[in-house]
Order: sequence, then structure tokens, then C-alpha cells
Amino acid sequence: MIRLLASLFARGEPALSEASPRDAAAMALLHAASFQRGWSEHEVESLLVERHVIAHCATIGGKLIGFVMSRLVEDEAEILSIAVAGSRQRRGLARNLLHLHLRRLAGFGARTVFLEVDEHNRPAVRLYDRAGFHEISRRPNYYPAAGGKPAAALVLRRDLA
Ligand SMILES: CC(C)(COP(=O)(O)OP(=O)(O)OC[C@H]1O[C@@H](n2cnc3c(N)ncnc32)[C@H](O)[C@@H]1OP(=O)(O)O)[C@@H](O)C(=O)NCCC(=O)NCCS
Repeated sequence: MIRLLASLFARGEPALSEASPRDAAAMALLHAASFQRGWSEHEVESLLVERHVIAHCATIGGKLIGFVMSRLVEDEAEILSIAVAGSRQRRGLARNLLHLHLRRLAGFGARTVFLEVDEHNRPAVRLYDRAGFHEISRRPNYYPAAGGKPAAALVLRRDLA
């Protein structure tokens, strides 16, 4: 019965909420699955307890399937990471998470949001472009590429109204 209820929930809409240190283990797992250099649970927990760090997560049936995290200092925020589980990608989840996150950042006083993204990361570049970010500079040879030319980091900015 419990399994049936869990599977029904698992088919529902993801729930978006503020992340807490209790989410550190699941966030570290998702981060490790999403990036070449994953964050450990300890690193994620250390970030989540920082006063300046704001994070949101998406869960479905209690399972974490996405998160976004920023550091906010005075009126400038930097997006530190965003990831969505592979099986849940391309359904607008990152867009919804980012939208909520930007609204909350604005509510906490952010006026400008910055981030860095690999120029070849098409999903992320598209996500940020659609969310109103624009390129302000470029750091050549920033991301190592296995057997190829290192990719540039694009520095993006969005002003919050
Ligand atoms: C980047 C990432 C978070 C996007 O998550 P997602 O939930 O699949 O994104 P969404 O479904 O909200 O899509 C956002 C936009 O990107 C586009 N997109 C998503 N995946 C894409 C892909 N593989 N190729 C091209 N465009 C893609 C979507 O079509 C959408 O654009 P649209 O509004 O014009 O249709 C996800 O791919 C991910 O976790 N990647 C690994 C971690 C990462 O690289 N994070 C970013 C670091 S800066």
C-alpha cells in the first residue's frame, strides 16, 4: 500500500521548497551525478548553514530531483549551482526552480544576479538565456575538456526589477 501511494505521488507534480541542511546528502548525490567535480555532503551542508546561502529544491514523493543554490551578499547574488536529475530533465523543472529562486532572491534584497556557465553547456545556456540573463564577459580556457580545447566560462548577469 505504501509503495502504491509513493508511486502515485511520484507521478505527481514536483514540490518546490526552500532547502535545509537535512537535504545535504541528497543534494550532494545529485551534484555528483551532474558535475565532473561533485560536492561532498559535508561541503553542501557547510554551504546550507551559511547565513548568505539560499537554496531551493524540487522533490517528488519525498525524493530530491533538483536544486538551485546561490550566495547573496548585500544586493548581489551569485548562482553557485543548479541541477535536475537526468530522468526529470527537459520538463521545465529548472525553469520553475530558477523562477522561484530569483523571486526569493529579490525578496531578500538582491538587485543583480551573476553566474558562470560553460559555453558548451547548451541546456544551461538556454535556461539562463530564457530566464533573462545576458553575457557580460567571458573567461577563455576556463573549463578543462577531456582531450579537447578547454571551454570558456561565460559570465552572465541578470538585473532583478
Ligand atoms: C541545466 C539543467 C539544470 C536544465 O534542467 P531542465 O529541468 O532539463 O531544464 P528545463 O526543462 O527547465 O529547460 C530549460 C530550457 O533549456 C532547454 N533545454 C533543456 N535541456 C536541453 C538540451 N539537452 N538541449 C537543448 N536545450 C535544452 C529547454 O528546452 C528549455 O528551453 P525552452 O524554454 O526554450 O524550451 C540540467 O540540464 C542539468 O541538471 N544539467 C547538469 C548540471 C548543469 O550543467 N547545471 C548548470 C550549471 S551552470
